[in-house]
Amino acid sequence: MSTPIDATRTPAWADLSARAADFAPDLRAWFSDDPTRVERLTFDAADLHVDLSKNLVDDGILTSLLALADDVHLADRLAAMFRGEHINTTEDRAVLHTALRRPAGATPELVVDGQHVDADVQAVLEAMSAFADRVRSGAWKGVTGKTVTHVVNIGIGGSDLGPAMVSTALEPYATAGISARFVSNIDPFDLAHKTKDLDPETTLFIVASKTFTTLETLTNARLARDWLWTGLAAAGAIDGSDAQKQDAVAHHFVAVSTALDKVADFGIDPANAFGFWDWVGGRYSVDSAIGLSLMVELGPEAFRELLAGFHAIDEHVRTTPFARNVPVLMGLLNVWYTNFLGAQSHAVLPYAQQLSRFAAYLQQLTMESNGKRVRWDGSPVTSDTGEIFWGEPGTNGQHAFYQLIHQGTRLIPADFIAFVNPAYDLNDGGRDVHGLFLANFLAQTKALAFGKTAEEVEVEGTTGALVAARTFPGNRPTTSIFAPALTPRVLGELVALYEHITFTQGVVWGINSFDQWGVELGKQLALQIAPAIEGDETATAAQDASTRALLSYYRAHR
Ligand code: F6P
Repeated sequence: MSTPIDATRTPAWADLSARAADFAPDLRAWFSDDPTRVERLTFDAADLHVDLSKNLVDDGILTSLLALADDVHLADRLAAMFRGEHINTTEDRAVLHTALRRPAGATPELVVDGQHVDADVQAVLEAMSAFADRVRSGAWKGVTGKTVTHVVNIGIGGSDLGPAMVSTALEPYATAGISARFVSNIDPFDLAHKTKDLDPETTLFIVASKTFTTLETLTNARLARDWLWTGLAAAGAIDGSDAQKQDAVAHHFVAVSTALDKVADFGIDPANAFGFWDWVGGRYSVDSAIGLSLMVELGPEAFRELLAGFHAIDEHVRTTPFARNVPVLMGLLNVWYTNFLGAQSHAVLPYAQQLSRFAAYLQQLTMESNGKRVRWDGSPVTSDTGEIFWGEPGTNGQHAFYQLIHQGTRLIPADFIAFVNPAYDLNDGGRDVHGLFLANFLAQTKALAFGKTAEEVEVEGTTGALVAARTFPGNRPTTSIFAPALTPRVLGELVALYEHITFTQGVVWGINSFDQWGVELGKQLALQIAPAIEGDETATAAQDASTRALLSYYRAHR
């Protein structure tokens, strides 16, 4: 295990601290003094056109941030990840989500720990495609001979958020008359609500769990199995014998997991199970077999396009000098805001309603990855880590929380994401509605950067105390990510962009971005508390006073 470098003791960190101490950003002046700023700070990464010019950086800061990347040996760490070294030290695993999107026939062949990674990845993709084709063509039949109209993915965290986000984002590509739903929460409402209007005879469940031990997923899978059996029995389709029940499961359940033995224990035919490997982290798994629901809904070709988009950004990050490397630059800017300018959170504001789940997806990707307080050798970090990611699509957010970003006291760097061409081209009495939508995207980044001075407010006739209230300070940093359209390929590029941003930040902070021990304690305690909920007095007595009081409220009202 290599020793992480303490970034806070590097010359670049000292230099950045000095720059931050007397930093007085002035985007108005920077733009007017430097006609080349926009051109110099705009970069293309595959189909993503990324304008960094409205960030609070000058050339000196950028140079120091790039020096910081060198000081922490970012290039070596990136290479180690792509090579399959065990950079996930606490779990002693390689980190190879980038291998999931290498094209067929990529050279040189990737062999890691004796595994022929490329061949295994392609074999699973082919099995997924064959299965998806059968379902989409109607060749796959339910137990009563009907074709599938709905797939229900049962999973949580990385086994839910990625597929759910992509399914919403690429809804216009779902053309086979099959739609996907996603059940994740152990709150029984979730499964009940999502199956309420479904016909068991035409529903196919995909149980998606890397470990196949996750409480929520296995509970929901059992509930779904009961729902299937009850529905089929009520329709007279099965008689309730074990053999018929098993046959129903074989026709209506498939699974995705790294633990195929556990899949068989659940009663799902291993022939209907799709595998992946421990070197794919849950939050990095949408491009693995975890994306099976997407392949069924969108088709194998769209899924391959999604993978091609991921790969295009992998190649960008791997081969582009850091001074023009978009994920690296964006990661370093996030470090600048977090560690030197005191930002606590980061807004992601897609101007695409289809990306309504993108912030939720990014929350797991970034916060489960970088919400750490010790470095990869167990030593405590000496700087803040892990930004809080949040957001909603514009223009909805404009009428909710943008006020705080424009005029509040906090610094909130924001990524704006927009697409030149709409999924649905509507016009309002001859007026292009998408154009109007994009005018808002442009207006918001402009207002945040340049604000509105008191003089400008007064010229409009405002006087007195109202002047201050109507003044916008500006110098609120934004990145604009523009792309031609929200295609599968572009979506893959966007996700990979954020994966590598997250990686860059993790390396600067010296943390392992690929474990998630912080979710364990709550899981353990839930299992200890469950008997207390059910009335076990010993388990109840073992709880703290607050938990005991809440339990007694529960019992009084249940
Ligand atoms: O929340 C912890 C976690 O392990 C995530 O990292 C993971 O994506 C999720 O649970 C689901 O795990 P699994 O796919 O094994 O069911």
